[in-house]
Amino acid sequence: MGADARVKPAHDRAEKIMLRSALLNVMIKAAHKASRALKRDFGELEQLQVSLKGPANFVTGADRHAEDIVRAELEHARPGYGFVGEEGGARESSDKSHRWIVDPLDGTLNFLHGIAHFAISIALEREGSIVAGVVYNPANDELFTAERGKGAYLNDRRLRVAARKRLADSVVACALPHPSRGDIALTRREHNAVQDKVAGLRRFGAAALDLAWVAAGRVDAYWERNLSPWDMAAGIALVREAGGFVSDLDGGEAMLSTGDILAGNEAIHRDLLRALAEARTA
Ligand code: IPD
Ligand code: CA
Ligand code: CA
Repeated sequence: MGADARVKPAHDRAEKIMLRSALLNVMIKAAHKASRALKRDFGELEQLQVSLKGPANFVTGADRHAEDIVRAELEHARPGYGFVGEEGGARESSDKSHRWIVDPLDGTLNFLHGIAHFAISIALEREGSIVAGVVYNPANDELFTAERGKGAYLNDRRLRVAARKRLADSVVACALPHPSRGDIALTRREHNAVQDKVAGLRRFGAAALDLAWVAAGRVDAYWERNLSPWDMAAGIALVREAGGFVSDLDGGEAMLSTGDILAGNEAIHRDLLRALAEARTA
């Protein structure tokens, strides 16, 4: 079979693209547009690695610039929607029921170190609940999308969380926060408790992608504390639409207000919730 025979005909690809809703297309267009700037900056960063002060200043500019692009694109397509972004904060809006939640560059430290694991994260909240999410890693062109009731996708492929049922078989993503952030003794107790029970613990360094990878079944679960809404809003839509469970660390729904999140399939989510609760009282 020649290489060309494996490429899907253009009309097939076009049909799949057309099946996406207008809303998702708006979000994807904004992510793609911002990604061009981020990709250029990521390439240039390699030149700056030698300078200690250069990359840090450079990255501050890169994420602000990316947020400006995302915001302009979303405002143009849906004038009046509210907007909250990591860089520019919140903006008053005429439409009180819709709000974009945006992290223009999630995984800054990876980006800064030339590690190709970072993403643009865009979510839409309607009447206080998240209805759509897009997480895009420009470095490998992986586009994760989800809309409420319509499933989660990686590019054109439908996603499903992993089916593994036993913690002992699971690979779990987590955070290794800087000791100055949060209760480090508790974090260490949680790590110890979970590490003893699972096949492997991983720290990838971009919360939006951690959640996208739960949705894709690459990792069985993920938990982290002290996040901001833009780190997790889009990822929550992805996990739920891939059939997974998402909660705060008390098993409730207050992820965005507490900053704490646990995601996985039903069985792994339940068992990890228990293991983390035990670590809290240990
Ligand atoms: C960070 C990443 C990281 C998480 C941090 C976040 P940023 O976001 O998502 O994985 O552990 O808590 O702040 O700063 O790279 O946008
Ligand atoms: Ca972030
Ligand atoms: Ca960020």
